[in-house]
Amino acid sequence: MLRFSESVSFDKLLARFDIQGSIAHAKMLAKTGIISKTECSRIVAGLAKILKKIESGEFQWDTSLEDVHMNIEQALTMDVPEAAKLHTARSRNDQVATDMRLFFKYACGEVEKKLEKLLRVLVDFADANKKIYIAGYTHLQRAQPVSAAHHILAWVEMFARDVERIRFAAEAANVSPLGSGAIAGTTLPIDRLETARLLGFVDSESGDPVVTGNSMDAVADRDLFLEFAFACATIGVHLSRVSEDIIIWNTSEFAFVSLPDTFTTGSSLMPQKKNPDSFELMRGKSARLIGNLQTLFTLVKGLPLTYNRDLQEDKPPIFDSFAQVCVCLDVLAECVKKIKFRKDKCDAAVSDPLLLATDLADYFVMRGVPFRKAHHYVGEIVALSERKKTPIDKLDDADIFAICDKADESWRSVFNLDRAFAMREKIGMPGAKQIEAQIAAWRGTFKKSK
Ligand code: ARG
Repeated sequence: MLRFSESVSFDKLLARFDIQGSIAHAKMLAKTGIISKTECSRIVAGLAKILKKIESGEFQWDTSLEDVHMNIEQALTMDVPEAAKLHTARSRNDQVATDMRLFFKYACGEVEKKLEKLLRVLVDFADANKKIYIAGYTHLQRAQPVSAAHHILAWVEMFARDVERIRFAAEAANVSPLGSGAIAGTTLPIDRLETARLLGFVDSESGDPVVTGNSMDAVADRDLFLEFAFACATIGVHLSRVSEDIIIWNTSEFAFVSLPDTFTTGSSLMPQKKNPDSFELMRGKSARLIGNLQTLFTLVKGLPLTYNRDLQEDKPPIFDSFAQVCVCLDVLAECVKKIKFRKDKCDAAVSDPLLLATDLADYFVMRGVPFRKAHHYVGEIVALSERKKTPIDKLDDADIFAICDKADESWRSVFNLDRAFAMREKIGMPGAKQIEAQIAAWRGTFKKSK
């Protein structure tokens, strides 16, 4: 049972938050006169000593003491007898809820920093590849021309939404459950606002302390775990989709990019191989991040209020999501810096005149042809080009005029990439000025966030 029920092997990660929480709790107990000032300072000094020991790796964790809370309290009491009063008006239920909220505030801050670093790298990557034109795909079929920068800025949008999601989780974490006790608070004259203030659970604008409003919900609630895991799973999905783009671009069939040796591996059998392992791993790890969210949903869905020991299982998926998201974001940011576009291959793909078939339909529309009809004409023109084994832009004027009598010699001018991009200068489109404006706008938001 000891081996089965222990959690210290993973929740020791909470040590510094547990100690932070205990210090605030002790100070509050002294302020309200529940313990003496001397008792408080002995406890606080003892906790600081233990934190040092933990950080230097000297602390002896004991699985028979179950969890991080009991390990620290036990060690403290051996050193400072007054610590027998520390757990006054507190339960491990509100204690672990507090520790986790402190953890989430920290973890969200870390993920946000890493996301912002990635955004900066991606915007620089877009800036460096404004002149690279590639085929854009729908259904993985060549669709329309875009610049590499436009594609990369689409990734930027995805990760920028992740920043919003992670900030939302950080905001949701910013509420103190301490003082809720095991389920129904305490009869002792504690001051919940004081511990909230000491722990930084304060409104970012007013500076007022923020505490949970119901002691039962405070110890039973795991919404924040779901929100954090969801934010991480969504980052995972984004990492996976970006990875898939890069893996496809890196195939011999596409060959739009070449990847840095440091982020690829060879095959143990086939000497010619250079595999995009870093991206495959990111795609794979996203499964874990999604799985962790699923684990948490399954964990809480059938639980009666309030605390049940099942909830001890809430930590491994959270710690795993945090660790995996962090390492993935680091790897992507470092790797992207060294990806090179292969202009010759991109040019070969983007010069396919069929990418501009829609532009030809638009050309007819501008001459008064209803779009459905224009679409149909271009379909006929494409079919004719296949029949004649002639690229669409090399067909005779007469062929085109026979299909659409609204066309004149200018129809062929549609098949020019500079024109195609110049005509896409509305907000959100891949025109060069738009891309410049987007890059500048993103850089403006980075300056603010610094
Ligand atoms: N290690 C426990 C957890 O993570 C702490 C709370 C234990 N509370 C209890 N009443 N057994 O859930």
